[in-house]
Amino acid sequence: MNDTPLARLDAYLPAALPGGAMGFVQHLSLSAADVDLPRPLPEGQDTPFDLVCRDDLRIPLRGVAGRPHALPSGLFRQRVVLGALEAAARTDLTALLSSLRKAAHLALARDADVEAASIASGLDRYRLPHDALPELHADDVDTSVVLLGRRLRSPVVISAMTGGSSRGGDVNRRLAEVAQAAGIAMGLGSQRAMHETRALAGTFRVRDVAPDVLLLANVGAVQLNGGLGVDDVRALVEEVGADALCVHLNVLQEMVQPEGDRDFRGLEAKIGALVRALPVPVVLKETGAGISGSVAARARDLGVAALDVGGAGGTSWGYIEGLRTREPHHRAVGETFRDWGIPTAEALVECHAAAPDLPLVATGGVRDGRQIAVALALGATAAGLALPFLRAVERSPDEGHRLAERLAREVRIAMLCAGARDVAALRRVPLRPSQEVR
Ligand SMILES: Cc1cc2nc3c(=O)[nH]c(=O)nc-3n(C[C@H](O)[C@H](O)[C@H](O)COP(=O)(O)O)c2cc1C
Repeated sequence: MNDTPLARLDAYLPAALPGGAMGFVQHLSLSAADVDLPRPLPEGQDTPFDLVCRDDLRIPLRGVAGRPHALPSGLFRQRVVLGALEAAARTDLTALLSSLRKAAHLALARDADVEAASIASGLDRYRLPHDALPELHADDVDTSVVLLGRRLRSPVVISAMTGGSSRGGDVNRRLAEVAQAAGIAMGLGSQRAMHETRALAGTFRVRDVAPDVLLLANVGAVQLNGGLGVDDVRALVEEVGADALCVHLNVLQEMVQPEGDRDFRGLEAKIGALVRALPVPVVLKETGAGISGSVAARARDLGVAALDVGGAGGTSWGYIEGLRTREPHHRAVGETFRDWGIPTAEALVECHAAAPDLPLVATGGVRDGRQIAVALALGATAAGLALPFLRAVERSPDEGHRLAERLAREVRIAMLCAGARDVAALRRVPLRPSQEVR
């Protein structure tokens, strides 16, 4: 068996073989499939088979079977190296893989320990000085902020996560209801799956339950090298009725992902072209490895409307990608990069210094309202949370509402106890170093 790491699917996909035989595929890529079979295929033989995805979707594939390995279950596992695919089969397989990958990400993020292990967001390194005599009524404290021209009642963004699977669609609707009720912003997950499979568009549509929310569409920057053009992106934004577009940067994730993209050249020019062509503001967003001051300055020169610093200290995408396979060396790569990146507080300070006029969203390991207040005092306009909102709404819609309410309450307490009537005043409060950092 060769060592190409294949993506591990959440569940077996049946493979219909010639003569009515059935196999089961749990590891798959665009170039190979591991098929578990009751009787092995002749080694070296070119074999056609159909991947049975749904009642209405069978993907015709063919490939050469490798050496069979007996499994404890009595089945035989064979790696089938796929031959050149027909265009339609290639499109279907690509779409299937990205939809399955998103579903696996969601399940892992919900159930596994997926956060950085030994690096923290750095927000707890600061504390707001306590004002014992604030001369304020709690109701006087104005926690609202304006982000991308829209007022948020509380400085919170539900960060981009999902869409592209039925589970993801349910999660998006729950998140959207929370955002609408709390007056906070919401990001949709990468709309790549929707671009590849039009039938998945509904899993990203939330405007009916969140008519007033600042809604952020989402595409991956590297997808701009994979055939996603300006007109495609414009259509994705319009179809979901978004107010702005997040272009996410996820170099580390792509590099750890076995089937990830590898060509990151020329993206700056393509992001610049998007900024010029789209009718909505463009936000450049990292996904947990952070944006440095020098990247912030380049982003400002491209004309982006805001940055989401997406720093290290929270959900670790290098690590999640490692968890997706059972291949030990591949898992080790994920471990190695679990704590890679610029911590959120550091990214915030650097970006604010390099591009002081650019609105910043502080995301990456933000877990409470005190940290949100610190992030605002460090120069952020709002703070984003992904994992906590996912886990909350997966428990129940009510838990999502309670999390948003708790964060809003904690921000208000922190502001009042720091003597800050509004966010402008909070920004003038001199932060102090925390004595003890756990
Ligand atoms: C399950 C899950 C899926 C995600 N998918 C996306 C995505 O599609 N696009 C994106 O820009 N960021 C995505 N992210 C990254 C988050 O938006 C955020 O930047 C990151 O998780 C750090 O925040 P956290 O520590 O609060 O989770 C995802 C995060 C999670 C947990």
